[in-house]
Amino acid sequence: MISFIAGGKTKVIDLQTIENLLGESLPQEGEGYGVLSEAMRYSVLGGGKRLRAIMLIESFRLFSDDRELEKYTAHPFACAIECIHGYSLVHDDLPAMDNDEYRRGSLTTHKKFGHAMGILTGDALLNYSMEIVAKAGENLAKYKPDYYLDNMHNFISATGVLFRKAGCFGMIGGQVLDVEGFGDDRKIDTEDLSLICELKTARLFQAALCCGAILAGADETAVSLLDEIGYLMGLAFQIRDDILDVTATFSETGKDVSSDEKNNKSTFVSIYGLDFARDKVRSLYEEMTEKLNRLPGDKSEFCKLFEKLYSL
Ligand code: IPE
Ligand code: IPE
Ligand code: MG
Ligand code: MG
Ligand code: MG
Repeated sequence: MISFIAGGKTKVIDLQTIENLLGESLPQEGEGYGVLSEAMRYSVLGGGKRLRAIMLIESFRLFSDDRELEKYTAHPFACAIECIHGYSLVHDDLPAMDNDEYRRGSLTTHKKFGHAMGILTGDALLNYSMEIVAKAGENLAKYKPDYYLDNMHNFISATGVLFRKAGCFGMIGGQVLDVEGFGDDRKIDTEDLSLICELKTARLFQAALCCGAILAGADETAVSLLDEIGYLMGLAFQIRDDILDVTATFSETGKDVSSDEKNNKSTFVSIYGLDFARDKVRSLYEEMTEKLNRLPGDKSEFCKLFEKLYSL
């Protein structure tokens, strides 16, 4: 549980609230065609740290106490970002990509439902994320016309940020570099490795922090500071994930061990070794906390979460 104090008021998000929001917003089992709704729910609801949803809502709360606005905007965006993240994992695990068998301690979606359903479930989750956001806009206009008039600009802007950062110039672009590299004759360096992590992972962290703040009406200076923090968090998070790929057990991560080695992936660990990678995470973490402290409100619980996340 993460608590936050802003504007003198204690604010708390609990994981169960996020699980409930996700469970309600996804298609219910039996709805639609074939096993699709079951596979969508399996892929999103079967565990996960919900980091991106938590970051989005906490970022909103740094700038607004308006719980009604949060319900109509930040909550659906938090569900949408978890659907995008969920689809990216379903596709990332496919045989044509990382070819992994376990995710969140259970069989990967394609292992459980078959390859074709793995592809379609990912497609459906990505599309559904847009449906959630569109529905939220419609609800705002219908049930909260005053909010709609006051906040529509922020809503549209957050929508653009979320889908651009997840898209071909963001997360998907990063997955392309992860799979294809930069071309045969190129010796990969730290900048290249950082770019892969920045695109495939940090973009969604940035989207979470920026969207929450934009929806709450934060100014451009604050949003751009959050963008920088999301970059540092995401980069460090991916490098730590690459470290855990080598050092952690299945029971710790719920994922296949040594997936990167199996796929001959270029990571900070494979190119520069574990010590270098650990130092890099530590220095990114320090830079990130320094920037976090420049934000308004009490960030202590937020910092604690990330301290745990980046402990090596
Ligand atoms: C896994 O992300 C993919 C990476 C960016 C390394 P998470 O570690 O946040 O995955 P879940 O949602 O908690 O399973
Ligand atoms: C995946 O990176 C990042 C995504 C955009 C899905 P990884 O391939 O390292 O993630 P895991 O280790 O499978 O969770
Ligand atoms: Mg991958
Ligand atoms: Mg993978
Ligand atoms: Mg990994």
